Amino acid sequence: MTKIIAMAGKGGTGKTTTSALLTRYLLKKKLTPFLLVDADANANLNELLNLDVGVTLGQIRKELKGELPPNVSRDQFMELKIHQALIEETGFDLLVMGQPDGPGCYCAANQYLAMTMDKLSDNYKYIIVDNEAGMEHLSRMNMRSIDYLLVTSDPSARGILTAKRISDITEPLGLEIKNQYLLINRAPQPLPAALQEKIDEAVADSGMELGGIIPSSDILINQELSGESYLNLADSDDIVLTINKIFDKILS
Ligand SMILES: Nc1ncnc2c1ncn2[C@@H]1O[C@H](COP(=O)(O)OP(=O)(O)O)[C@@H](O)[C@H]1O
Ligand SMILES: [Mg+2]
Repeated sequence: MTKIIAMAGKGGTGKTTTSALLTRYLLKKKLTPFLLVDADANANLNELLNLDVGVTLGQIRKELKGELPPNVSRDQFMELKIHQALIEETGFDLLVMGQPDGPGCYCAANQYLAMTMDKLSDNYKYIIVDNEAGMEHLSRMNMRSIDYLLVTSDPSARGILTAKRISDITEPLGLEIKNQYLLINRAPQPLPAALQEKIDEAVADSGMELGGIIPSSDILINQELSGESYLNLADSDDIVLTINKIFDKILS
């Protein structure tokens, strides 16, 4: 069975960083093949992995609205195009959602997308969705059931409250979440006791468990600045050891 892991959290809290580190983790553990979905309109997961993006699903949706080649039905066309949009790497594929539809919904295209995702998903052990703050893409792709929701937060009282609100809205959105984890990112070390209290409160008062505390890392900052792929981080890097322990626990 394919497991779906979705990121959630306010902008800038570390969803894409976590997705890139999870990619590295799954590759190292040979938990392949998996699919990465960059569901952020301002897609940048590919940059952390040093991959070039070709056509995005947003562009495909636009093409679907126009004239199609003769003798091709819309669902055949969508399926063909989605395969073209898949960036195939060793062990994983990347699919970039791109810009949303704009005003109004081209619902037929979303339906084709959902159908194609259904067919595609069987090929993978995991599907990782790097979301933007809203989680509309999950329903658009017909991902109503999520195995692991990872909610990232900055290390502040208000950040943690926002993470809790994000966790709380999953129910009204009609998403079935099997496991929910709070990840506190860029945490100062040692962790202030007052912050630990806020974390404990949020966890006690929500469906989230504490997934882990990720320290602020100069290694990550330098890796990003140098433009080198996060896949090339060293096994011995502190941040890698910490993150791997967190994923060991979450995915066990
Ligand atoms: N643990 C960390 N230590 C240092 N910098 C981090 C850490 N996590 C994220 N960052 C940096 O913070 C910025 C925002 O992170 P990002 O993962 O892009 O957030 P999001 O995808 O939630 O918008 C990026 O520049 C990233 O390099
Ligand atoms: Mg991001």
